[in-house]
Amino acid sequence: MTEHIYAHEHPESDRTRGGGFTLWFTGLSGSGKTTIAHLVGPALDDRGCIVEYLDGDTVRTHLSKGLGFSKEDRDTNIERIGWVASRLTRQGGAVICAAISPYEETRRKARELVEQYGQFVEVFVKASVNECARRDVKGLYEKAFAGEITGFTGVDDPYEEPAAPEIVVDTEQHDPEESAQLVLAKLEQLGLIPAAVKA
Ligand SMILES: Nc1ncnc2c1ncn2[C@@H]1O[C@H](COP(=O)(O)OP(=O)(O)OP(=O)(O)O)[C@@H](O)[C@H]1O
Ligand SMILES: [Mg+2]
Repeated sequence: MTEHIYAHEHPESDRTRGGGFTLWFTGLSGSGKTTIAHLVGPALDDRGCIVEYLDGDTVRTHLSKGLGFSKEDRDTNIERIGWVASRLTRQGGAVICAAISPYEETRRKARELVEQYGQFVEVFVKASVNECARRDVKGLYEKAFAGEITGFTGVDDPYEEPAAPEIVVDTEQHDPEESAQLVLAKLEQLGLIPAAVKA
């Protein structure tokens, strides 16, 4: 019935506040996206940013409730996150997205939406499948390897590594705090946040 929907853009909705950006964490389940995102977020708060989180697990209980893990549903989930991130970026937000987002093409679409209004900073949170399976925070790798879950990213579903992310954090080399500092340093370097005030 989409032919009966008229998506009007009202003039006032063109307003953009500037200064917004989206920090997009991508990586395997258990690579550390949520962990690092929640260290970076408060640091951005401290520097005066208006922070909002769009975490895959949370989004799937609200905005994307009911979606599964087929390629189509994964893409729909990421496109929704990208769209909301773009709207918040337009209003000057520091948007922190943390979803596996396994497909390069879909991440590119999210980037295009966001870049209409602010910078898109892709953070590849890198850890091998073996390491993520060793951590197995949610017990899902064990189930995937046992065949109790199918279509699990990195086991029997693809993960396309970003070709040109703004930053790579290797969580087999850096602990979460170090990774968060690397991300903050990159944001400073890009001129998106002021340098931390030294105590
Ligand atoms: N160096 C590290 N960096 C980040 N996390 C680490 C590191 N070493 C161990 N961990 C642990 O790995 C786990 C990473 O889980 P986290 O929920 O952040 O992953 P995720 O990428 O958000 O996964 P999902 O896609 O399933 O949400 C945490 O329990 C964290 O404590
Ligand atoms: Mg997570």
